[in-house]
Amino acid sequence: MSRIAVCPGSFDPVTLGHLDLVRRARSMFDEVVVAVGINAGKSPLLDAESRVSLFAAAVADLDGVRVVRMPGLLADLCREVGASAIVKGLRGGADFDAEHPMALMNRHLSGVETAFVIGDAALAHVSSTMVKDVARYGGDITDLVPPPVAEAVSTAFGAQKDGAR
Ligand code: PNS
Repeated sequence: MSRIAVCPGSFDPVTLGHLDLVRRARSMFDEVVVAVGINAGKSPLLDAESRVSLFAAAVADLDGVRVVRMPGLLADLCREVGASAIVKGLRGGADFDAEHPMALMNRHLSGVETAFVIGDAALAHVSSTMVKDVARYGGDITDLVPPPVAEAVSTAFGAQKDGAR
């Protein structure tokens, strides 16, 4: 039976850190389903379709990886795809503190375990939030995200500025 991992996140936008995590998850599971979901505590810069298509383009060369939109609960998606595990990346202790209650809730709802993977240390400073913060003020994010993502983020900030005029 094939073992499927779900890598969930809001991916607003996908970064090189997320891609590192997906590669590591794929090395441990037969299939990886990237679930682009809604974080009720965040209001995204990019719409869900863009986040899905940017991630899908970034993993197009990887076998056994697909990207789906997650409109509701992660627990429901895990059931739908027959997930063996949820895989999340940890950059440090703050990530663990945030992830711990989510892992307990997801296990409570679905019985699916969360496995934590330590990402590439060279990318430990990279998060979607920081990438957006750098880009918002005109900083260079081209070595933190795939090229189409850098373009989409800068277009989105440009549109925000135009809307504010
Ligand atoms: O990248 P993020 O913002 O940390 O991802 C959080 C996300 C989207 C994975 C999380 O908010 C989530 O699982 N949302 C779906 C709704 C859900 O299942 N909530 C209860 C379990 S935390």
